[in-house]
Amino acid sequence: MINQKSIKDIKKLGIKIDHDMAFGGKSKGNKHLSRAVKIARFLAFKAKANIKIVESGAWLHDTALPTGDDYNYDKNKKIVMKLLSSINISKSDQILIAECVASHEGREDPKTLEAKIVHDADVIEKLGILGIIRHTWKLTNLNEINSEMITDDDVKKVLSHINWRNKRLQTRLAKKIGKYLNIKVSKNEAKNIISVTSKLAFNGVTTEKIARVLHRSLNNKNKEMLEEQLKLSYLNKFT
Ligand SMILES: [Fe+2]
Ligand SMILES: [Fe+2]
Repeated sequence: MINQKSIKDIKKLGIKIDHDMAFGGKSKGNKHLSRAVKIARFLAFKAKANIKIVESGAWLHDTALPTGDDYNYDKNKKIVMKLLSSINISKSDQILIAECVASHEGREDPKTLEAKIVHDADVIEKLGILGIIRHTWKLTNLNEINSEMITDDDVKKVLSHINWRNKRLQTRLAKKIGKYLNIKVSKNEAKNIISVTSKLAFNGVTTEKIARVLHRSLNNKNKEMLEEQLKLSYLNKFT
């Protein structure tokens, strides 16, 4: 059984790593982690999964980022198992939580219901307008795109990653939410969002602030969708 104090310790650890260590501290203040936890808890409740395992996994899902990337199943697992050794929970719970973290980027099939949910919560945060902003931010900070000159290939790279992740959604409810959020964005609109995001990301601006800057220049449909994503108000439509 995971008690509230352990969840609190896990949360603290997740936030510290995400804000202070990942990307050299450049993502401090971004709300992805807390939104991913809320989405994961929502999906877990609906699917009658183990909410404490899901919540713990969601808080820790990005903890391999300070090592450069968080795509590798074994590396993710090793890192989180080490982190969890300082938390007062059983070995079997450690293993269940680590399973949620290991496969969250979708390169390996998540093996448990709880791992599927953490994976899906992270995907939901990578869809639609927010997804374009978040993935562009990540690629810019990994030096995988040049913010000075966004090419058509960059646009393709971002959009195809988002579509690939959408197709990898595992649970029924998440697939429904994915369908709702992954609105069609034209190539030109996407290029504009990616160009603005990449420049700001290169200058150390967080995704939350970028979303607020971009918000003004979006068309009404995209504006509304981005607002819903930042506030998670779309979840009300799936209760
Ligand atoms: Fe991640
Ligand atoms: Fe994430």
